[in-house]
Amino acid sequence: MHAHADVVKSPSSEGAKTDAPVLSVIDIVKRFGDGADALVAVDGVSFDVSEGEFVSIIGPSGCGKSTLFNIIGGLVADYGGHVAVDGASVAGTHAAFGMVFQDESAFPWRTVIDNVAFPLELAGVGKRERHDRARRFVSMVGLDGFERRYPAELSGGMRQRIAIARTLASQPRILLMDEPFAALDEQTRLLLGDKVLQIHQQLRQTTLLITHNITEAVQLSDRVIVMTYRPGRLKRTFDIDLPRPRTSAVVGSDAFGHYVAQIWNDLREEASRGMGDDESRRVGEAGRS
Ligand SMILES: Nc1ncnc2c1ncn2[C@@H]1O[C@H](COP(=O)(O)OP(=O)(O)O)[C@@H](O)[C@H]1O
Ligand SMILES: [Mg+2]
Repeated sequence: MHAHADVVKSPSSEGAKTDAPVLSVIDIVKRFGDGADALVAVDGVSFDVSEGEFVSIIGPSGCGKSTLFNIIGGLVADYGGHVAVDGASVAGTHAAFGMVFQDESAFPWRTVIDNVAFPLELAGVGKRERHDRARRFVSMVGLDGFERRYPAELSGGMRQRIAIARTLASQPRILLMDEPFAALDEQTRLLLGDKVLQIHQQLRQTTLLITHNITEAVQLSDRVIVMTYRPGRLKRTFDIDLPRPRTSAVVGSDAFGHYVAQIWNDLREEASRGMGDDESRRVGEAGRS
């Protein structure tokens, strides 16, 4: 089933365009705790992401998305299965991944440009080059003119863009984003989605996005993978066959609505299980207090 993980590239295939996945996630299992209290957060999750592909994983809150995300990015240990980049297993943090989180913080005492250049500084990139590269990515996320501003002078949406520019500037093999727009209002989220679409058009950055937002997933992705709630398994994959280049205008199309309806159909069952769980826990807590 996951034979690709064991495929050894023959020298003749070197340089040839292949469909070999950039990222392979193979049979990941993660348990928290043991015995009767054990919680299987992620159960037998496998999927691939190819070069330049934009894939979203969607599921209700608590279904194991962040756990999976952190396993891929090497921030969570003691799991079953493995993660491979370009066919080679990786464990722990790895330079192939650039990660963006929900509550990104920028250094308040650094300007926008110096925030974006910071990882390049750490990597020992010379001043001139890191400045040029940072400027390019600041412009790509639409923060031209704000280079010398400080994070406190910007909106939440703009601060998330600093985080995206900072991660893109290190030119990762794979961009991993965990609910990067969750704290933003719907309009800002849609417009920032346009920015993400433009950037994808330009860079063809291989991307894995974790989200609980159906509109966002369909708007941005080539493929949307739905996760089940407890244990976190893959339920279904949707190929999003909407033409690119895309903008947020696509959100109003019939085809878009059709994907949203199909995905919601799968997701609502999982979401109601998650909600039921949450409610019974709260009732339990109230009973104890
Ligand atoms: N470090 C941990 N220890 C124990 N349980 C955890 C830990 N991290 C996450 N969990 C549990 O695993 C489940 C999945 O969590 P998470 O991956 O954060 O879900 P999501 O990101 O989809 O909201 C939740 O029930 C959560 O409480
Ligand atoms: Mg999460």
